[in-house]
Amino acid sequence: MQTDLQVWLDHFLYHAGRRSPLPEGDNEGLTAYERRLIADSIATFQLGEQSEGRTLLQAAERFERAHGAEPLARIVQLFISEEQHHAALLGEFMDQHGIARKHSDWTDHVFRWARRLAGFELSTRVLITAELIGIVYYRALERATGCRQLQSLCRILVADELAHVGFESDVLKEIQARRAPVIRAAVALAHGAFLRAVSLVVWLTHRRVLRGAGHSLRTFRRACRDQYTFHLAGPILAARPVPCAESQASSLRGRTNSVPSSACWPPSATAAPTMRARSATPRPSSVIDGCPSSTSPAATSR
Ligand SMILES: [Fe+2]
Ligand SMILES: [Fe+2]
Repeated sequence: MQTDLQVWLDHFLYHAGRRSPLPEGDNEGLTAYERRLIADSIATFQLGEQSEGRTLLQAAERFERAHGAEPLARIVQLFISEEQHHAALLGEFMDQHGIARKHSDWTDHVFRWARRLAGFELSTRVLITAELIGIVYYRALERATGCRQLQSLCRILVADELAHVGFESDVLKEIQARRAPVIRAAVALAHGAFLRAVSLVVWLTHRRVLRGAGHSLRTFRRACRDQYTFHLAGPILAARPVPCAESQASSLRGRTNSVPSSACWPPSATAAPTMRARSATPRPSSVIDGCPSSTSPAATSR
């Protein structure tokens, strides 16, 4: 593969050894009203985060063998482990605040079923859709509560999800780049339609929290669409510099500075694009801070 998988492996290995603990807080931090507002919703997301990811891992192993994409499977394994850590953090928070865990939910069943449908690409497209919407959701959850502990937890989750989306979008864009334009357009059209359908379902099932954050159906779906556009709908054949030594060093400095493909943008005049850089879109440094910034309801209700 042309995507620099070694940089992503370094990123996930680094964070595997430095998992964030649950931010400190006390039972008073979450009011009774907030607990009622978020309980069912946060339990559904906690359930969704705790997948073992066996199907995805098997698909990644097959893809790696077929395309010489080592160490893709190892990255996916580390990435799944980070998702399970998200589930543990959310579960610990819920336990501290007396919020019951869920053991099944129809939306979780649908997502797991969809991820089993086919190979690595389809599984990854389903997954990235959930994560793009998850970024909007966790930001909304942060705004919907006055609980500092939950706000900090949401920021940790969003920081990790941005890196997940960065990795997945790099891989998906490379797959897309190999296709004829008409196939590429059809895939993008289908994925966009899937995102719109899922964002509607998430609105219907989590609207109390989303409304609590100031979202309407229109602003929420626009925020989801903006995430999709920012991460996946860019020009896929634009040149991007290979992550420079500085960016690789920065991935070892801290979690919010560790999204590899953004660290060297804009490229210097001397940075010659290589074959390895050809398939990915330039990712402005704002991705690190969670762009697009228009994901807040105020910014999206134009
Ligand atoms: Fe997650
Ligand atoms: Fe994720």
